[in-house]
Amino acid sequence: MSAMDYAGRRERLAKALLPKSAAILMNPEPAHKTGDQDYAYRADSNMLYFSGMDEPGAVAVILSADQQKRMVMFVLPRDPERERWVGPRYGCEGAVSRFGADEAFDIATLKDKLKELLFSLDNVYFDFSQSASLSPLLFSVVEMLRHRGRHASEGPRSFVDLRDIAGEMRRIKDAAEIEAMKRAAAVSVEGFKDVCRMLRPGIGEWEVEATLQHGFRARGAIGESFGSICAGGAHATTLHYEANRDRLADGDLILIDAGAEVDYYAGDISRTYPVNGRFTEAQREIYELVLKAQKEGIKMCVVGNHMKSPHERVREVFAEGLHALGIIAEPPKEILEKNLDFAYYFHGTSHYLGMDTHDVGIAYGRGDDAPAMLQPGVVITVEPGLYFTVDDVRVPEKYRGIGVRIEDDVLITENGPVVLTADLPKEIADIEK
Ligand code: GLY
Ligand code: MN
Ligand code: MN
Repeated sequence: MSAMDYAGRRERLAKALLPKSAAILMNPEPAHKTGDQDYAYRADSNMLYFSGMDEPGAVAVILSADQQKRMVMFVLPRDPERERWVGPRYGCEGAVSRFGADEAFDIATLKDKLKELLFSLDNVYFDFSQSASLSPLLFSVVEMLRHRGRHASEGPRSFVDLRDIAGEMRRIKDAAEIEAMKRAAAVSVEGFKDVCRMLRPGIGEWEVEATLQHGFRARGAIGESFGSICAGGAHATTLHYEANRDRLADGDLILIDAGAEVDYYAGDISRTYPVNGRFTEAQREIYELVLKAQKEGIKMCVVGNHMKSPHERVREVFAEGLHALGIIAEPPKEILEKNLDFAYYFHGTSHYLGMDTHDVGIAYGRGDDAPAMLQPGVVITVEPGLYFTVDDVRVPEKYRGIGVRIEDDVLITENGPVVLTADLPKEIADIEK
């Protein structure tokens, strides 16, 4: 991302805010792990999107278009003693020269300076998911101003959730973001290819996980976008199995759902492979059905369709297939009307993908009845799956314990769907050994 990308986003945000407003962005403090250790640090996605600032605890105030300044930052000041231990800080100079702030101040002055910045404004935007840390500070500053003003007009009157505006901006990826997402997809694909080379009966699910982690990191990723799911055999029927502590058995499948985080953008891929290189007949039947549904779902990723279009098509394909395989006796129409497929397909087909794996942006209106339209620049996953638990007596025995999910990352364009993860094979002929 270039300085111009960030400045352009700030200008768009400034125009989208009500007049006399400020949006407050904040990087969280590092999360404590144990003893004197913290978890690996990840800055706030909105802060990264609007400024690229990745230092813990930094605050950015972005002002509406009618205001003179555009961005004021609050950061840790330079401290040579401390920096010898923990590495360099940007300091106030860096906040201006590197991140494009009009002004920057020591974070210790935040409360006093916020009073100055907010006293003539009406609205304060912030991400309500950060309310535990931000709202006590913001409420206290605003109340001080309101109280001080008494019968006068000082201080903001309203708080607004920034997520609607920031979410809508981030939902439509700009050119620099699309390039980053292509890099995340490419590194994710290579990690999966590494797994295909090492997969065999007897290895541990943790070895698959480690191969992914190594494959991602060695190719420049920050790490995994989320905890990798490496689910051998019936573990695949648990949607978010992340324990990854069993060995892979001859004759089983492994469902892998993982992705690399590259330059703060997520890849998110699922593949299901036969551990010994060959599908059994029952496994093949389920795999073919999921693959058909996934390809049909991807075809629906076109401008003019909406967030639920891939899901609706996937459900139609599943209803036909589950009936044809004798798994659900009722005819397809009745399966759909009575939601009988939910027993084996109980998650959605798509989510937005971006800086967050389950990315921001409104996908459905209240009550799910108004799905958002697919537009050029939107990236979504298409990830149908079927899951038959070992103890489900409604299901023919040969299918019990089988879980299959296939997931790709799809960019919506004027010219149709672009599968960012298309380089990773999913046809049976290409994945059998
Ligand atoms: N791995 C999370 C998801 O696919 O949504
Ligand atoms: Mn996934
Ligand atoms: Mn996903």
